[in-house]
Amino acid sequence: MRKPILAGNWKMFKTVSQALSYVEHLDGLLADIPNQSQADVVICAPATALYAVHNQAQGTPIQLGAQNVHQAEEGAYTGETSAIMLKDAGAKYVIIGHSERRQYFGETDESVNAKVQQALKHGLLPIVCVGEDLDQRNQGVTNTLVESQVRAAFNAVSADDVARSVVAYEPIWAIGTGMTATAQDANAVCTHIRSVLSDMYGQDKANLVRIQYGGSVKPDNIAELMAQSDIDGALVGGASLDPGTFASLVRNAL
Ligand code: G3P
Repeated sequence: MRKPILAGNWKMFKTVSQALSYVEHLDGLLADIPNQSQADVVICAPATALYAVHNQAQGTPIQLGAQNVHQAEEGAYTGETSAIMLKDAGAKYVIIGHSERRQYFGETDESVNAKVQQALKHGLLPIVCVGEDLDQRNQGVTNTLVESQVRAAFNAVSADDVARSVVAYEPIWAIGTGMTATAQDANAVCTHIRSVLSDMYGQDKANLVRIQYGGSVKPDNIAELMAQSDIDGALVGGASLDPGTFASLVRNAL
């Protein structure tokens, strides 16, 4: 059985003080969800708030993730953050290859692969984002595209490391638009992702990989998504920004 993973991606929102009060509030709300420990609850905070959130979240069920990592160990890369730094700041997970990074910051399948390897090398668990845009969807190339993203992201990554990783299927046209893939369509792509992983690493390893859906996930559509065979959680943008909404989402997911 794969443990569900519900991750909030705050993107470029929240100051340190806003982040701290959010964590305090969310912790209180999670305490009222009797079976909450059945899921991993992760907040992917901006880099500036990681260390503070890490401290505030000690002793709570809230786990910490970062939103990006540089692929180099260290060096003259002004403005970038290394895996060592993220780990040191308390991050356990890191989102890699989010479509916004691919679209606005020139990330490629190759850089995503380098980042995945770097994260795993330093004990960070990657949340690898894949997904098609609306044109690709309409052209019927979703599965082909997602397959090539998955194969590239995990190129030369060991089976054990892949088993520890998370894949987030986020159709770009569903991000922040209010348009969600139907639960059945989302699941079909997630099933395809698992079959690609099975082809690469064998069914046993593929069965361990947690696959999230992301794209306009809300408290009122999470239950249907979670009921699907190959959807093990969600990567949540807008609906993670308010602790009450995110707690409702966690509640409805279980
Ligand atoms: O990474 C999460 C994301 O891109 C989805 O955003 O606002 O549609 O939930 P949202």
